[in-house]
Order: sequence, then C-alpha cells, then structure tokens
Amino acid sequence: MEANGNIAATEKGGYAHFMLKEIHEQPQALQQTIAPYLETDSGPLANFLTAAQAQSLRKLYIVACGTSHHAGLVGKHAIESLARLSVEVDLASEFRYRNPLLDEHTAVLVISQSGETADTLASLQEAQRRGCPVWAITNVQNSSIAQQADAVLPTLAGTEVAIASTKAYTAQLAVLLLLAVHLAELRQTRPAADLAAIRQGLRELPQAVQAALEYGSFLQGLANQIAEQELIFFMGWGVDYAGALEAALKLKETSYIHAGALAAGELRHGPIALITEKAFMVCLQTQPHLRHRMQGNMQEVLAKGGKILLVDTDASPGAEDPGLLRVSLPQVHPLLAPIVSIVPLQLLAYYVAVARGCNVDKPRNLNKSVTIE
Ligand code: M6R
Repeated sequence: MEANGNIAATEKGGYAHFMLKEIHEQPQALQQTIAPYLETDSGPLANFLTAAQAQSLRKLYIVACGTSHHAGLVGKHAIESLARLSVEVDLASEFRYRNPLLDEHTAVLVISQSGETADTLASLQEAQRRGCPVWAITNVQNSSIAQQADAVLPTLAGTEVAIASTKAYTAQLAVLLLLAVHLAELRQTRPAADLAAIRQGLRELPQAVQAALEYGSFLQGLANQIAEQELIFFMGWGVDYAGALEAALKLKETSYIHAGALAAGELRHGPIALITEKAFMVCLQTQPHLRHRMQGNMQEVLAKGGKILLVDTDASPGAEDPGLLRVSLPQVHPLLAPIVSIVPLQLLAYYVAVARGCNVDKPRNLNKSVTIE
C-alpha cells in the first residue's frame, strides 16, 4: 500500500504482468471505492443533488469511450431499473458532434478512467456550453475531466498501469450502482428494503469477486486450448450483452483475436451462419428472468457443433454436454452480477494473450489514454 492508502502501482508485486496484478486487486479496489459511498451522510453522494433536483430529471446521458462506455451500458440498466430515469448511453466521439437533445431536465454523466480522453472531455465541454450539469466518474482526481465537471464521483481503484482496463471498470460499475441506488432513494422509486439489499450486496462484492478469481488455473488451461482460435463470440441477454461487449474488447485488445459480441436474441438474425464446429462461444447468464432464452441459444450452438463456455451466477445444475464448459460464480443480486461475471473473462483474455506471446500490458498501437483526435 502507498502512504495515501492507494494500492501501490509501481511494481508488479510478484505478478508476471500489471494486467494480472490489477485483475487480482479488484476485491481491494472495490472495497476502497465503495466504502466512502456507504457513509451516506458524508460520502461523495451526500450533497450531490437534492430530492427536488433528482425528481425534476427526465433524462440522463452517459457519455464515454471504450471500456468506460461499456460501464455506461451497465449503468443504464441499473439506473433505469431502480430510479426509473430514462438513460441514453452515447460514445463520446458521436455525442460531441450530433447536436444531442439537451434541456433543463437533462443531466450528462461522463465516465473516464484517465479523465483525459479527448472526445469525453470535448463532450463534457459541449454539454456545459449547452447549459447542462455534467457529472463525472473518474479514477484520476486531478485530471482535466475531474477539474471541469460540475460534480465528481470518484473511483478509488488505485493507479491502473496496464492498457487494458480491468479494476477501473469494475470500480466504475460499483459507483454507477451506488448512484442508481441514490437516485432511486431521492426519486422514491423503490422500497427502502430493496435499496438496503443492494447496498448490502455491494458490501459483500469483494468476496464474490475473490471467488471468481479462484477460476484462474481453470481459465489458464482453457486459454491454452483456445489460443489458436480465429473467431470467438461472447453473447448475453439484457445487461449481459454489455458484459459481452466488454469481454470481447478485452480479448481483442490483449490477444489480437477477433471477438464478436452478440445480444443473444440476435443470434438467429444473421450471426448463426458463422456457427460451426470451429466456433467458440462464451455465454453470460446472470439474469434469472432471461435464463430460459439463453438455454435455447446454447442448445442451438451445441447442435451446430460449437463449443461453449458458460459463465453464470445461478448455481442451478444445468445441462451436461461434452461441448459445454462452465464457470459458476457466487449468486449475487442480478444488478450486481456484471461486476462479478466480467472477472473470469478478464482472466481468460489475459491468459489467451500470454499463450499467444502478446505484449499484454502494452498491446500494439494502443496508449493508456487517447488524448489526441
Ligand atoms: O480513460 P478512459 O476511461 O476515458 O479511456 C477510454 C478508453 O480509451 C479505454 O477504456 C480503452 O477502451 C481501454 N484500453 C480498454 O481496456
């Protein structure tokens, strides 16, 4: 630990790469991020907005790039579900140029690990020029975005060195969940007991993420088998589609394998033509009310000879099939499940990249933050 309580960033601490170290730091990064927010009288949300302001909101835009954009997609799901506030998630590179509909009932939330991403910063400035309040979730508290935003919701994940974002992403998801709970409280859209259950789930998240990390050796073995794969798919229903997008990005940027992400309901609308015995499909299944639909998708893939890795949080026995491998994660509140289900897929991306001899911490052509246009 550094003197300021941050997780030490400068050394690999016995891990082969910063990415692996940062994946393993997630229980601690989550605990550090969540703890101040649970101090409801003094934490970052204490004076964030009044009940009247929260109730007058009609729309929230979440604007970000890359992994932070995927966090926004998960955040939309939580905020709409808990606070019944309409959320539009936009890529910063699109938002800044598309003359979005902004009015006095709209707020803009930008998300950026580095706080320096050029398109995200420009979107913040455009929204402020149009008179909208702009909130920021960032991991760097003296960054340009932190300094220019009207309010900052920090992630306290510690410095992230590897280019592939891991612990900053799960910390962003935790803050988005905390924001969703807070908005729901102010807007009185959910019973207090439901919100207390989610806060309790957030307290217990570090243990659930720790349990997900235990799959490391299994995923390392699997990665060695699939390292020669040319095409991998990730699919999920609902919020699991956001997880699929993030898992596919992690694999692409670290291992240079082309990975597709599918909203699972779209499988039959074209992508199924690509499913043969050569296809490897990773299925995310964390939402109980959509389980039956994913089961149907998996049967179709297996019937065409495809191989599946199922990542689920439902602890039910499930079907046996020689083509089906499974990572069974602890049961957590469905709204919190994306924070746990991404962890084995970060590990999978890491181990596939290592098996392919890639430069894991600094993949080709990439920089930690995209500060030029
Ligand atoms: O610092 P930011 O969160 O604004 O960065 C946004 C993206 O450039 C970043 O998330 C990128 O996609 C990562 N390499 C993903 O691992």
